[in-house]
Amino acid sequence: MLLHVVGARPNFMKLAPVFLAGRGVPHLRQHVVHTGQHYDRDMSDRFFEELGIPRPDENLDVGSGSHAQQTAAIMARIEPVLERVRPEWVVVYGDVNSTMAAALVAVKLGIRIAHVEAGLRSRDRTMPEEINRLVTDQLADLLLTPSRDADANLRAEGIPATRIAFVGNVMVDTLLRLRDQARALAVPERLGLNGKPFAFVTLHRPSNVDQADTLREMLLALETVAQQMPVIFAVHPRTRSRIESFGLGGVAGSVTMLAPLGYLETISLAERSTLVITDSGGLQEETTVLGVPCLTARPNTERPVTVTEGTNRLVASTRNAVVAAVEELLAARSRGAFVPRRPELWDGNAGTRIIQALVQRSAR
Ligand code: UD1
Repeated sequence: MLLHVVGARPNFMKLAPVFLAGRGVPHLRQHVVHTGQHYDRDMSDRFFEELGIPRPDENLDVGSGSHAQQTAAIMARIEPVLERVRPEWVVVYGDVNSTMAAALVAVKLGIRIAHVEAGLRSRDRTMPEEINRLVTDQLADLLLTPSRDADANLRAEGIPATRIAFVGNVMVDTLLRLRDQARALAVPERLGLNGKPFAFVTLHRPSNVDQADTLREMLLALETVAQQMPVIFAVHPRTRSRIESFGLGGVAGSVTMLAPLGYLETISLAERSTLVITDSGGLQEETTVLGVPCLTARPNTERPVTVTEGTNRLVASTRNAVVAAVEELLAARSRGAFVPRRPELWDGNAGTRIIQALVQRSAR
């Protein structure tokens, strides 16, 4: 029995390929627990429908709160579930608070933990996700890595090779499976962008949106880019509330601001965009596979292969830096200067390899 724990938007795209691969194994039972870290329809339920996976077996309804409150609520509510279900494995995904909270509870109950997307490191401990990654990886029994750099990070932290399995990138499984469906939605056409260049934007990291000065700089950058081409900005609830509370509503008047998009809409726009500006982990990877240039507004990334092999480039969160990077990128593109490579095992079969790794270790 596998008990999958998910809670926040990026977890759902990672769960889907593992869950679907698990369904193909006779007698393997699976139980999905949603912590309720994300709860708006646009941030949660909609993804299960689009990803073609059943609704979670249970939802802990923890909701929002400070890091301590949210982590503690998840721990307190998931403990009785794990005691009742007693799975062979708890499978946790990515680097959100739900990931770390579930791992902390499982380890103390003596239940084995598998971490999907293990080993990524930004080496930036001001990011809550970095803390979640470090803690989860120390506790997990099986570390399922998306890229070779992740294996090296784990080995450098003293984790034995027997606990590590390089399986590739599950986000890419979902992307390749649903790419045609996403295309069929033709979101650019629906927004009147047929064949036109446009930029697609998402921003939600506290480092970009929680301080008024930085958020203003980013909005000014988008406004400047919007003088050149349409800018489509899918606004995360955290970002929307910061724009309102800082009184920045008027700063980016030429930018088209949309509610958070579903998965298929996001891919439909990302694939057809001229460039993506983001601070999302998932979009750094998706743009690499789609071959779309990506500017990541962060000083570091835990996904270095997207820079060394893919289409990603880091940029400071200032108007000047973003605008200069957009200009360079457009110039390089018109010269046809760049041919991305798809990183090793980003091939659409990571979910199957994860289930194989789990089944093999269960038999021991
Ligand atoms: C979380 C993850 C982040 C991930 C992101 C994707 C952590 C530490 N952070 O950040 O790694 O990239 O999800 O979206 O786990 N809110 C709503 N509706 C919702 C969910 C949240 O309005 O359904 C608002 C609330 O005001 C909440 C705020 O967004 O306080 C932040 O939500 P939270 O889950 O704490 O973090 P995210 O910024 O979403």
